[in-house]
Amino acid sequence: MRQYAYKLLMGLIQASLWSLRKFDRWRSGDRTYRSDEEYRLSPYETYERLRSRGNVVRSYANQGWLVNGFEEVQQLLRDNRFSNDIRRNKFFYYLLRIASNGLSIPLVDQPAMLNRDPPDHTRLRKLVASGFVQTYIQSLAPMIESLVDELLDEVAGEDTIDVIASLAQPLPAMVIAEMMGVPASDRSLFQGWSKALIGATMIDRPELIEKAARAAEEMRQYLSGLVEEKETLPCQDLISMLLEAEQDSDRLTRDELISNCVLLLTAGHETTTRLIGNGLYTLLHHPEQLQLLRDDPSLMENAIEEMLRYESPIQITVRFVTENFEFLGCSFRKNQMILVGIGSANRDPVANDNPKEFDILRKPVKHIAFGYGTHLCLGIALARLEAKIAFRKLLGRFRVIRNLDDIPSWGSNPFFRGLSTLRISTRT
Ligand code: HEM
Repeated sequence: MRQYAYKLLMGLIQASLWSLRKFDRWRSGDRTYRSDEEYRLSPYETYERLRSRGNVVRSYANQGWLVNGFEEVQQLLRDNRFSNDIRRNKFFYYLLRIASNGLSIPLVDQPAMLNRDPPDHTRLRKLVASGFVQTYIQSLAPMIESLVDELLDEVAGEDTIDVIASLAQPLPAMVIAEMMGVPASDRSLFQGWSKALIGATMIDRPELIEKAARAAEEMRQYLSGLVEEKETLPCQDLISMLLEAEQDSDRLTRDELISNCVLLLTAGHETTTRLIGNGLYTLLHHPEQLQLLRDDPSLMENAIEEMLRYESPIQITVRFVTENFEFLGCSFRKNQMILVGIGSANRDPVANDNPKEFDILRKPVKHIAFGYGTHLCLGIALARLEAKIAFRKLLGRFRVIRNLDDIPSWGSNPFFRGLSTLRISTRT
C-alpha cells in the first residue's frame, strides 16, 4: 500500500518535472530534442549544448542549477557554502524517509563522511584517512595481483568473456573485503551488499531504496562482529588501523567506524568497476590508442587518467544550497539543488584541447573524475592501483581482444556512467 502511495506521489512529481523540463527548454530557446535513449548512449552532446548556453544554468526541473564548466565546478566544490548533507534539504530528505519504509537511510542516518559538512566531515575524514596512507595502499599490490589472477584463471579458455561480470564487478568488492580482513568465504556477501547499496540513490524506486537500507543493516551487523574480533585480536588490516586511529586525542566511535566502512564499500566498488569497464571499452574503440599502450606499457598511468577524464564513472554529483547568496553572478537561493557536472567539466575545452578525442598521450590530463575540494576522493591511490593491475594483466594475458557487443550496454542512471556487460573474445 505504502509503495503504491509513494509511486503515485512520484508519478505526480514526475509529471510536474516533465512540464518543468519543457519550460526549461522553452526559456533557454534550445529547441533541439534528444531522447532518453540518445542521452543514455552519449550524454556529451547534451553537456556541450548546455555549456553553449552558459556554465551555470538555471533549471526549474531540478529545482536549482546545473553547473557544467570545468572552472565553475572546481570553484563550487571548494566552496563550503554548498552542502553535501541531504538532511539540510527537507524536500529530498522526506522523500527518502518515506521511501526507506521506516528503515534507517544508508549513509544519511549514520555518520559517514561523504554526506556530512565541515566540521563533522573534517573530523571523520582525518580519522579515516589514517587507513589510506600511501605506503599501506602500495603494499596491497601483491594481494590485488593475486585476486586479478584468480578471477582471470576462472575464465581462462572460454571463448567469450564478460569482463564486467568476471573481473570489473567482483574485483573492487574483493579488494575492500580483503582490506577489512574478511575471510574469503564471506567475500560474496560484500558483492551482494554493494550491488544493493547503489540503489540508495534511486529516489523514484522505493523498492530499491528499501533493499539498500536492508543491505546496509546486514552489513553493519556483520561489521560489528568483525570489529569485536579485531578489538581482541588486532591485525594488519584496515579495521584494526581505524580502531587504532587517533587525531588530537579524538577517536572514531564504533558507530562511526562501521558507517565509514559501509561508505568505503559503496564509494569504492561501483566506481572502480566502471573505471575498468569504461576504460577497456574505450581502448577497444580506439585500436590505435590500445596499440600505443601495448607498445609502451609505461604509458599506463597516463592512459588511466585519460580514461577517467573521457568516460568518468561519476558524471554528476549533487550539492544543496542552505542560505541565499550570489555565486558566479547568479542568485542562489536556500533549498535549491545543484547538479554538478563532473562528466561535462571533463569534456570542457577550457581544461583540455580537443576534449572529444581520447588521447593517452595527452599531458597533463586535466580532470576532476575524483571530485575536487572538500570531498576529494579518499580512494584515489587505491582506484589507480587496482586499474593499473587489472589493465596490465588483461593486456598481458590477451594479445587479441575484440568487443562482441554491437550496442554498448550503458546504464540509464545519469549520475553514473558504466556498462552492465562488456563481452569480449580473445581469439583471432
Ligand atoms: C575510479 C574509481 C573512483 C572514482 C571515479 C571516485 C570518485 C569519487 C568522487 C567524484 C568523489 C566525490 C563525490 C562528491 O564530491 O560528491 C569521491 C569521494 C569519495 N571516495 Fe571515491 N572514487 C573512486 C574510488 C574510490 C575508492 C576505491 C574508495 C575507497 C575504497 C573511494 C572512497 C571515497 C570516499 C571515502 C569519498 C568521500 C570523501 C569525502 O567525503 O571526503 N573512492 N570519489
